[in-house]
Amino acid sequence: MIKLTVNGQPREVEVSGETPLLWVLRDTLGLTGTKFGCGMSLCGACTVHIDGAPARACITPVESVAGKTITTIEGLSTDRSHPVQQAWMEIDVPQCGYCQSGQIMSAVALLKQNPKPSDADIDAAMAGNICRCGTYPRIRKAIHRAASLAGGQTGREGG
Ligand code: FES
Ligand code: FES
Repeated sequence: MIKLTVNGQPREVEVSGETPLLWVLRDTLGLTGTKFGCGMSLCGACTVHIDGAPARACITPVESVAGKTITTIEGLSTDRSHPVQQAWMEIDVPQCGYCQSGQIMSAVALLKQNPKPSDADIDAAMAGNICRCGTYPRIRKAIHRAASLAGGQTGREGG
């Protein structure tokens, strides 16, 4: 039995320790907002936060996050009120949408570290999140918009 906290809730999962966190989130806990893209830490679709830092759930054995706090896209807010979610909707960022949970989780992590990022800061922080639909210009615009909406609130997680 492995204990972890997911989106503010204590959870216990009975899986083998090497199971990737991604499958525990999606299959065991039913949190399907986090996506599988490459399975090799190359695309960013599976990005979640582990103790507040962005991480690739596809290559993270669940035993390595025992006792830690995980935040997924579902944990940013219950009503899409997180400034990054608001900005994403306002700018209408997604095309197919597949990469967007990972994009948003990386953007939230960036803004927590750097509440007013430059274009170069955004490009550097988001470089590991691939979008096959090429929504990069809108992602950049939405991150700037989230920064101005946030008023210093982008460090908020889980509520
Ligand atoms: S699915 Fe994890 S980085 Fe691509
Ligand atoms: S919106 Fe389609 S892959 Fe990014």
